Amino acid sequence: MQAPIGDRRGFKLIETTAVSPRVASLNEYTVAPTFCEAAQPQEEKMAKGIIERSVIEDLASRASGLDIQGGDRRIKEIMNRLLVELFQAIDDLDISMNEVWSAVGYLGAAGRSNELGLIAPGIGLEHFLDLRLDEAERRAGLAGGTPRTIEGPLYIAGAPICHGAGRLDDGSDEGEVLFMQGQVRDQNGKPVPGAIVDVWHANTRGNYSHFDPQQAPYNLRRRIETDAQGRYQFRTIMPSGYSTPPGGSTEQLLSAIGRHGNRPAHIHFFVEAPGFRHLTTQINIEDDPYLFDDFAFGTRDDLIPPVARISDPKLMAEKQVQSPYASIDFDFVLTPAAEGLVDTIVERERVVA
Ligand SMILES: [Fe+2]
Repeated sequence: MQAPIGDRRGFKLIETTAVSPRVASLNEYTVAPTFCEAAQPQEEKMAKGIIERSVIEDLASRASGLDIQGGDRRIKEIMNRLLVELFQAIDDLDISMNEVWSAVGYLGAAGRSNELGLIAPGIGLEHFLDLRLDEAERRAGLAGGTPRTIEGPLYIAGAPICHGAGRLDDGSDEGEVLFMQGQVRDQNGKPVPGAIVDVWHANTRGNYSHFDPQQAPYNLRRRIETDAQGRYQFRTIMPSGYSTPPGGSTEQLLSAIGRHGNRPAHIHFFVEAPGFRHLTTQINIEDDPYLFDDFAFGTRDDLIPPVARISDPKLMAEKQVQSPYASIDFDFVLTPAAEGLVDTIVERERVVA
């Protein structure tokens, strides 16, 4: 049973980034910013667009180290471009000193509370990277597999491996029982045996194991190896949607632009097999009120399988459950490994168990 919206709770990001004493002392002077401070009506406004473009480009170039030897050429190029755009935006929009320093303080606070991994999907950045990869694959003739979507910040590597079938939940959460099953295939319909379906999802309160101290390690996380026919299946509980941490940096930003921080109920997957491109995806639970209003832009039309509700006593007995259960059929279609195309295995900072 899905938790009603009123019961959604922001999941807890309990991992914190250690700060050095020097940083900690600097932080004492950083007041947590609020967005209402950013636009004081009494603040004096300057004229817009008052700086020559050549001045902006010259300062950005020098600040990026473009005119000196040493350093990383790629980082210089990216930094220069971002600085030019930033300086130009400040000048064009007459972004005030207070607004700039409010943003600097905000980013510092978001980093200290370890919410940058949530802000990235919240501002569409993670989905935009997916859109670029989709287009690159389309141009390379690789379209047609199961659509990718965002990973989010809550993956933990090293979940227990099951062969063919497994159970994700430890029985401590009395949510609706869910069976999910399907096949991993290539684009010609041929089964892929030995593929790893790495699955993780939230519990009925919208919380993930490891980040939620109430749950056992790796609860609702497993790696299922497909059988000789490429099939996988698992038993678990129906996940709930969740929201960004109440009062946190992500919620603060979203509130300032009139958005919410809710994610519809979903189940994450990595699917990988030798000779195929790594797939990062998720399925959404079809009846969630936020299904097409995900703050992280993760919902995709082909990733919303129907949910069957099974109450046939014979089928319940076969599944060894005492109550009606939910069932989802979903097949994954992998695209072949491709030389010369950007890899789909993303290197990013992840929490380690
Ligand atoms: Fe998630």
